[in-house]
Formats: sequence, structure tokens, C-alpha cells
Amino acid sequence: MGGSKTSLGFLVLLPIVLFSGTSSDAHSLSYNFTIDPRPRDGQPWCEVQGEVDQKVFLSYDCGRAKIKYMSPLGEEVKSMNAWETQTDTLRDTGDLLKKQMPDVTPEKHIDKGSGPLTLQARMACWREDSGHTSASWQFGFNGQLCLLFDSENGYWTMVHSKGRWMKEKWENDRAVTEFFKKVSMGDCQRWFQDFLLSWEKMLKTTASPTTGPSTMQPMAPDSSYIAWIATGVLAGLVIIIVLACIHYKNRRLCSPEALPRKPKLCWLGSFCSSA
Ligand SMILES: *[C@@H]1O[C@H](CO)[C@@H](O)[C@H](O)[C@H]1NC(C)=O
Repeated sequence: MGGSKTSLGFLVLLPIVLFSGTSSDAHSLSYNFTIDPRPRDGQPWCEVQGEVDQKVFLSYDCGRAKIKYMSPLGEEVKSMNAWETQTDTLRDTGDLLKKQMPDVTPEKHIDKGSGPLTLQARMACWREDSGHTSASWQFGFNGQLCLLFDSENGYWTMVHSKGRWMKEKWENDRAVTEFFKKVSMGDCQRWFQDFLLSWEKMLKTTASPTTGPSTMQPMAPDSSYIAWIATGVLAGLVIIIVLACIHYKNRRLCSPEALPRKPKLCWLGSFCSSA
């Protein structure tokens, strides 16, 4: 009977292990810039939305230097040292993007009648499960994604013909390319490291209210480690089921006369024998 108890224990343990693995997946920090050089009705010419794991935590008006905090994480990062330099860098980035706009969008490259022109730029930096960090930029006009920039290797990829002019211009502009690289691989990654500790703490306290935060590890375990545990547990489970099958078959617990007395054990026995 010890065998069935052990396998029951594994069945309970398995979802816990798999579930805990989902919270240690790769995290990301990103900033959406929207540049509108000719804003109407007091709209901002530059707006930035910051997201951690696709959840908005701040909204920043670069022109007026006004910040709105959107979530508990926003409240948390407000008090961090990184904050001051972050707003400066976001403002510099907004300025640079605005200055680039007349160059990257000469009239002949814009569709007639497409309305007022806005530039969207999305900077993202992230940490993969392996601990490897990376970053990228996406650029678009009027909501149409046009151009990608891989900050790690410096490659530009055109995803829409409207991005051709921008690509040709920026590819040959060392200062702009270096700026995009530096902000995404340097600044973004640095803020991210600062935010991540608070963010992971928040994820854990909201995801598992029954478990006190003091009993949790400060950093999420590497998910390859989780995968190994899950594989081990699965293998163990399979072995236990096979052993249980052999055991029940040998004991012939599921012979017709045994059925009324041991209905619970026979369910597993008949499952095995029908397989
Ligand atoms: C940021 O931009 C991406 C793609 O450009 C979009 O999917 C996402 O919804 C945007 N986020 C916000 C908060 O606007």
C-alpha cells in the first residue's frame, strides 16, 4: 500500500512543481514611445508607456516631464534611485526620435491622405531563462510596424516597405545606431535589474497568498532546473504506475470476486490491464 501513497504524493507534487515553473519564465521591460510632431488640442507630442511583462506600470509625457504611475510596481519604482536617470534618458530618447522625424518621413515617402503622422518606437529588453540578456527596437508609422532593430548584433530588418527610407538612413548613421544600442542594452537592462527584484517579489506575493514571502527564495529558480525536476518527477511517476500495475496484476486484486471489496484499487488495476 506504500506504493499507492507515494504515487499519490507525486500526483500532488507534480502540479505544484509545474506551476512554480511558470512564474520563473523570462521577464521583459519595454517602453512604447509615441511621437506626434504636430499634436492637437493640448495632446503631448511625446508619450511613453513603460511595461514590465506586458503590464503597464508608468505613463510619461516627455514634453511636459509628467509621470503617471499605473500599478503597485509603478509606486514601488518611484522611490528607486534609477528613477531620476530613467526619466532623463526617456526624454532624451523622445527628443532624438522627434528630431529624426523630418528626416525619416520626407513628404514623398508618406502616403497621401493617411492623416497626421505619428512615429511609434518600442524599446524592449529582457532576460532569457538561461540568464542571457538581450534587447531590441521596433519602429512604426501611424501604427504600422515597419522596421526592427536587433540591439545585440546591430542588424536592421525592414518589415514593411514604409520602413525602407528609415532603414537606409539609420543604418548609415552611427550616432543614432549607437544611441539605440546604448539605451536598450545599457540603460534599459540596468533599470530592469533594479525593477526585477521588486517585480518578482510582487509576483510571488500575489501569486501565492497562502505562502508567506519569508519562506520564498529571493530569486526565482532557473527554469531549466524546474524542467529537470519535472522530468524526474514524471519519470518517477511512470515507473511507479508501471510497478503498481505489475503489483496489482500479480496480486490479481481485480478478479471479479475481488471487485466488490476493493473498488478503489481495482480502478487502477483495470486501467492497467486494459492498456
Ligand atoms: C506597445 O506597443 C506594442 C507593439 O507596438 C503593442 O502591442 C502594445 O499594446 C503597446 N502597449 C501599450 C501600453 O500601448
